[in-house]
Amino acid sequence: MLTNDELAKWDRESFFHPSTHLGQFARGEAPQRIVTGGEGVFITDRDGNRLLDGFAGLYCVNVGYGRQEIAEAIADQARELAYYHAYAGHGSEANITLAKMVMDRAPEGMARVYFGLGGSDANETNIKLVWYYNNILGRPEKKKIISRWRGYHGSGLMTGSLTGLELFHKKFDLPLAQVIHTEAPYYFRRPDLAMSEADFVAHCAARLEDLIATEGAHTIAAFIGEPVLGTGGIVPPPVGYWDAIQKVLARHDILLIADEVVTGFGRLGTMFGSDHYGMRPDLITCAKGLTSAYAPLSATIIGQRMWDVLTRGTDEFGVLGHGWTYSAHPIGAAAGVANLRLIDSLGLVGNAARTGAYLNDAMRAAVGDQPNVGEVRGEGMLCAVELVADRDGRRFLDAADGIGAKVVAAMLRRGVIARAMPQGDIIGFAPPLCLTTAEADQIVQATRDSIAEVLG
Ligand SMILES: Cc1ncc(COP(=O)(O)O)c(C=O)c1O
Repeated sequence: MLTNDELAKWDRESFFHPSTHLGQFARGEAPQRIVTGGEGVFITDRDGNRLLDGFAGLYCVNVGYGRQEIAEAIADQARELAYYHAYAGHGSEANITLAKMVMDRAPEGMARVYFGLGGSDANETNIKLVWYYNNILGRPEKKKIISRWRGYHGSGLMTGSLTGLELFHKKFDLPLAQVIHTEAPYYFRRPDLAMSEADFVAHCAARLEDLIATEGAHTIAAFIGEPVLGTGGIVPPPVGYWDAIQKVLARHDILLIADEVVTGFGRLGTMFGSDHYGMRPDLITCAKGLTSAYAPLSATIIGQRMWDVLTRGTDEFGVLGHGWTYSAHPIGAAAGVANLRLIDSLGLVGNAARTGAYLNDAMRAAVGDQPNVGEVRGEGMLCAVELVADRDGRRFLDAADGIGAKVVAAMLRRGVIARAMPQGDIIGFAPPLCLTTAEADQIVQATRDSIAEVLG
């Protein structure tokens, strides 16, 4: 067995970690954690820590760690048929079964599901399909995509462009020219404090109308949004937002892509966020919760009106030239089938609604009145605490002080993992959907004590 020191050294010297400060990590100045196991909502590391994972990895281990049913499904699949491609009509029992299970759960009006590997490549697929669709319809100019500031849709070239966070653009020459951004539905950060929620919804719809008028509706193909803003701050939309936005999109014949990488398969206490908010998307992006991250797999669910045009396109132009070697990988698909069965048999969608509400209520009761807490918000098994310098004047903290990160570090010392969201001093929670009320209490207590420690 390697000692911790050897692994730690190899890690610092060999491993290029994603979303990491490279210099600090290599010099040993940035945190390092070597994770060894997981059970339920807890992970363990080589230093002997047992931590309650209040963010389910990257909001993805929805069924919790250590589920033997999924591990066995993966092992069985690897022994029987580790791989065969899905091109030109090839399938396996696992990916065909998963397709049927996804379609049985999908919102109304959906026609087919395409499988990729992760959320970023699924959104990449979506944009290609949108462009193809408008080319088949003879509208070659209708190609721009509207995304929202603070949206998160991946970190590829196109998907990093769709993402509306500075960190993912800066020094990467992004966003690409085909992507434009509009107002985030972030009521707490509304431009005018006097605005009611209804005024703010009207304001978001008006900003979208203005953008469409400036660019020309004939140039705009699609609008992409997460039902609840995730990485941008865990922000449920104000009441009536999706209704108002969809009215604008319908008026201008603009497709809607619901990015449900976080919300798909139960996180909001409903199977899909689209059901939760009455969205009627043309495309739905899924990943994370599809396999609870036991194996990489993503899904693009395609609505009927797009499907009809795609099939027409192949009748006119032949095979659709899109796919990866690992599309619909049988091992990912086997994990997906076992995962969706487990979500049903354990009643995890219902638990996300119930225990999620408990977590949000308990968090509000514990820290909602603290002078440095501007807002506690959430939906289903998502929760966020936004820290401010002054709650009455809504004065934000100085980003350079890194208060959010300090609170998260203090929570870690208390055995709870939360996430310092990348833009703003926002403490994010997205625990596994199997969280119990006792575990929710542990998260809340660590949050309250850590805020008190850092902010007095
Ligand atoms: C809403 C949303 N879309 C897309 C992605 C990208 O997924 P991936 O990291 O699997 O590429 C994420 C990842 O966090 C996400 O939250």
